[in-house]
Amino acid sequence: MEKMNIPWLILSLQIFIFFSLNRQLAFGADTVSANQSLSGTQTIVSSGGHFVLGFFKPGNSSNYYIGMWYGKVNQQTAVWVANREIPVHDIHSSELKVSNGNLVLFNESQVPIWSTNISSSSNSVVAVLEDGGNLVLKDGPKSSTPLWQSLHHPTHTWLPGGKLSLNRRTNQSQLLTSWKNSEDPAPGLFSLELDPNGTNQYFIQWNRSEQYWTSGAWDPQTRIFSLVPEMRLNEIYNYSYVSNENESYFTCFMILLL
Ligand SMILES: *[C@@H]1O[C@H](CO)[C@@H](O)[C@H](O)[C@H]1NC(C)=O
Ligand SMILES: *[C@@H]1O[C@H](CO)[C@@H](O)[C@H](O)[C@H]1NC(C)=O
Ligand SMILES: *[C@@H]1O[C@H](CO)[C@@H](O)[C@H](O)[C@H]1NC(C)=O
Ligand SMILES: *[C@@H]1O[C@H](CO)[C@@H](O)[C@H](O)[C@H]1NC(C)=O
Ligand SMILES: *[C@@H]1O[C@H](CO)[C@@H](O)[C@H](O)[C@H]1NC(C)=O
Ligand SMILES: *[C@@H]1O[C@H](CO)[C@@H](O)[C@H](O)[C@H]1NC(C)=O
Ligand SMILES: *[C@@H]1O[C@H](CO)[C@@H](O)[C@H](O)[C@H]1NC(C)=O
Ligand SMILES: *[C@@H]1O[C@H](CO)[C@@H](O)[C@H](O)[C@H]1NC(C)=O
Ligand SMILES: *[C@@H]1O[C@H](CO)[C@@H](O)[C@H](O)[C@H]1NC(C)=O
Repeated sequence: MEKMNIPWLILSLQIFIFFSLNRQLAFGADTVSANQSLSGTQTIVSSGGHFVLGFFKPGNSSNYYIGMWYGKVNQQTAVWVANREIPVHDIHSSELKVSNGNLVLFNESQVPIWSTNISSSSNSVVAVLEDGGNLVLKDGPKSSTPLWQSLHHPTHTWLPGGKLSLNRRTNQSQLLTSWKNSEDPAPGLFSLELDPNGTNQYFIQWNRSEQYWTSGAWDPQTRIFSLVPEMRLNEIYNYSYVSNENESYFTCFMILLL
């Protein structure tokens, strides 16, 4: 397959999905604490209102997913999905709650179908939706050390501060994957990952096998990927590439232009 030079900005493989649900803010808060659960049309909203988390239904699908979407964009656009492959159908009897130190989604039969999967024994764990689009699990609302964060587990959208890494101990690379289609967020045919062979470049692959696009290697001098010269024109993001004995990843942060 021919290499294509896809503009940097669509690298996120973001798919814009339009939802028709009108949702009320029943919950209001930005936190799911112990003994609280999110169910039905309840949502949590980040403190500045930029991101919302709750059940959503893509398009005309009859399946529901726990997702995060923009709070200030009229057409609901999901940026992160928890249970991508295992939808629920009845949101009133399904629950997202803190259980055994993890954020866990229970389906209609109270069977756990998605979890943050960390080993934690604390009973003061809370999940907070932050204004940068990060769902953070921490040991108490005041803790500053995240136990788990969605920005380090992106699904189909790379948000500023997000991390798509290569584990250098196992050579396993994390994937950002497109949706199957506009009504099914399960992993589709396109994926983005850091080269597991350690060449410091990202690939978009088709069906996890055919190379479709490459960023070219990271150049530490110019701080751009060699085949993405348009990164030079950027004045909004500060890019950096981190590589140590445990992991490699590229990340970017918004530069405040105040
Ligand atoms: C949660 O519920 C348990 C048992 O009902 C109670 O002991 C505990 O204090 C509650 N925790 C919070 C944070 O309210
Ligand atoms: C949903 O169904 C309606 C009515 O059948 C149709 O007009 C609309 O295009 C569908 N939306 C999507 C996203 O497929
Ligand atoms: C809940 O998940 C379990 C395990 O996947 C499954 O056996 C059960 O049928 C699910 N319940 C419903 C109502 O879908
Ligand atoms: C959690 O761990 C189980 C078993 O190791 C695995 O099957 C499941 O996919 C993991 N879930 C997530 C969200 O990583
Ligand atoms: C990684 O290297 C192996 C052996 O040289 C090669 O067969 C494979 O295609 C490479 N993988 C990628 C994604 O370039
Ligand atoms: C990971 O990849 C590097 C470079 O290709 C190789 O030297 C190393 O042996 C690999 N490690 C594992 C655990 O496969
Ligand atoms: C993707 O690759 C798998 C084998 O890894 C193959 O079975 C499947 O048919 C391929 N899908 C498409 C759409 O070609
Ligand atoms: C960009 O990031 C680098 C390294 O992380 C830092 O040294 C530099 O000050 C940052 N620049 C701006 C404008 O934020
Ligand atoms: C790599 O991981 C080890 C073990 O978790 C840790 O002690 C070390 O500080 C890590 N190195 C870096 C550069 O983060």
